[in-house]
Order: sequence, then structure tokens, then C-alpha cells
Amino acid sequence: MTKKEESKEVDDPEFFPFINGTRIDLCPRNSKYVNLYIKWKNDPKVRKYARNVVPRSLDEQKKRFETRHEGISEHISFDVWHKKDKTLIGQIGLSRIDWINGKANAFLQIGEPDYWNKDIGTEATKLLVEYAFTELNLNKLHGGVAVDNIGSWSVAEKIGFQPEGIKKHEMYVDGRYVDTKIYRLLKEDWLKRKDR
Ligand SMILES: CC(C)(COP(=O)(O)OP(=O)(O)OC[C@H]1O[C@@H](n2cnc3c(N)ncnc32)[C@H](O)[C@@H]1OP(=O)(O)O)[C@@H](O)C(=O)NCCC(=O)NCCS
Repeated sequence: MTKKEESKEVDDPEFFPFINGTRIDLCPRNSKYVNLYIKWKNDPKVRKYARNVVPRSLDEQKKRFETRHEGISEHISFDVWHKKDKTLIGQIGLSRIDWINGKANAFLQIGEPDYWNKDIGTEATKLLVEYAFTELNLNKLHGGVAVDNIGSWSVAEKIGFQPEGIKKHEMYVDGRYVDTKIYRLLKEDWLKRKDR
């Protein structure tokens, strides 16, 4: 790695970590990386359980940026940056935020498969959970995961998400109906955990 690459973080005037982790940082989304977002949205391996069943064009993705609402909204997302490799590897966030009842859906996508199964999704989700409970004052996080997506529900269970039940035939993946596991994490349960 060259000196220039090593100091990319410092040199890049558009690198703004919002939440610092150990191996990753969570940063605001940036339209400059729209090509990477598109690559992940269309990658057959990545999109399989993320349920991106329609191709996403670069133009469409750019348009989404133009209409994006920053600030308190029903959707908050972050870029996941690998600190050591200084590489953008995925996205994480909260959707369907219900500010009245204090709950939201948690989502995660590590778009670069080389970084799967290295505990990075778990670290990113831990940071998101802490942010949701201690900064946004949310009370409950939930998520639905295909039973076949072992990586995804393993992340949920490692952090303490509790299974709430199974929804039968909730997704149609590769020509067959797949059940989803429904998970929840309450703030009161998370506060009791020693590994948070
Ligand atoms: C699902 C996803 C977010 C997981 O992220 P990740 O960084 O790989 O997760 P982690 O490494 O923190 O944890 C994954 C765990 O699942 C386990 N796992 C993954 N596939 C497995 C398999 N086939 N059998 C057994 N365990 C498996 C890993 O061993 C790891 O557990 P461990 O730490 O106890 O060894 C990532 O694979 C991804 O983004 N996939 C594509 C998009 C997607 O499916 N998003 C979720 C939609 S709900």
C-alpha cells in the first residue's frame, strides 16, 4: 500500500465518520459512491436475500439521492467503512421508523462478499443498536430474515435479538417460497446485556 493510500481517510475531504467502531466506522451516505451502491444492488450474491428483484439503474440511484430527505425521517442509513482497508464495504440503517411508538426496522448489507463471516456485520449492528437506543431514544428494533439466510439471523442472535415467530412463505427466492424469522430487540433487554 502506498503512503497516499494509507492516508486516504485524512486526505479525503468527504470522509465524515459519524460513529466510530473498532474495525469499522459508520458514515453518512455519499452520492460520490453511487456506482458502488449500484454494484451491490445488482450483485446476484448480495441481492438474493436483500430481495432486490428488479435491476436498479445508475440513473434511478442518482435520482434517489436527489430526493433524499436528510434529518429526522422514517429512514436513516449509513455507509460501513472498513478502517484498516479504508474501503466502503456496505450499508446499514433503520427503516420504517415509528417515532410515536419508538420502534424501527433494522437492515444491513455488507456489499463486498470478501468481508462476510468476519464479524463485521455484527460489529456494525451493535453500533446501530447503541445509536438507536441511546441517541434516538427508540425502544424496540425489529427485523425479518429469510430462514435460509444463516449469516443474517446469526448476526441478530449474537446481539440478543429474540425470535418472535416464523412467517410462512413470506419471500419467493430462486423459484420457491421461503419462510422468514421475525426478530425483536427491546431496549430493556439490551441494557441487561454485558457484551453491549
Ligand atoms: C447477512 C450479512 C449482513 C452478514 O454479515 P457478516 O458480516 O457476514 O456477519 P458476521 O460475520 O458478523 O456473522 C455471520 C455469522 O453467520 C455465520 N454463518 C454464515 N453463513 C453460515 C452458514 N451457511 N452456516 C453456518 N453459519 C453461517 C458465520 O459463521 C457468522 O457466525 P460466527 O461469528 O459465529 O462465526 C452479509 O452476509 C450480507 O450483507 N449479505 C448480503 C445481503 C443480505 O442478505 N442482507 C440481509 C438481508 S435481511
